[in-house]
Amino acid sequence: MKWDAVLVVSPEYNWGVPGILKNTFDHLYKEWVGKPAGIITFGSRGGSNCAEALKVVLGNGLRMSVVDKNVMISLPAEYMMTQKRLQGDEEVVTEHEGELVELVAELVRRHDMPQAAQA
Ligand SMILES: Cc1cc2nc3c(=O)[nH]c(=O)nc-3n(C[C@H](O)[C@H](O)[C@H](O)COP(=O)(O)O)c2cc1C
Repeated sequence: MKWDAVLVVSPEYNWGVPGILKNTFDHLYKEWVGKPAGIITFGSRGGSNCAEALKVVLGNGLRMSVVDKNVMISLPAEYMMTQKRLQGDEEVVTEHEGELVELVAELVRRHDMPQAAQA
């Protein structure tokens, strides 16, 4: 698999990264090492713990160039208590549009100019 950059979108469960997603990273070191990475999390509290854990796994473990400013989507209770799932056009998502655009732009910038990743 060849990827120019990786944008991880993950829910948070019990303050952590879903096990199956972590397992994916453990198999992809060689394919993803050094690449730019962005993080989007969602959950009842936006998945902040998952985001911080992902920064450690991707940044330190896989030595990826992780964009520090991640996007966190806080879900209303109905998304946890029922089968309702995000479609992408809800306000809880669209209110982050500016951040999402910035995140993707930063991934493109780091892809085009890897030496500027820390700037
Ligand atoms: C068992 C369980 C634990 C959860 N723990 C957290 C949590 O620690 N932090 C958080 O922000 N959201 C938490 N959530 C909310 C989930 O992130 C949210 O329900 C999300 O939609 C789950 O992803 P899915 O819809 O792909 O299953 C939890 C949900 C469940 C069911």
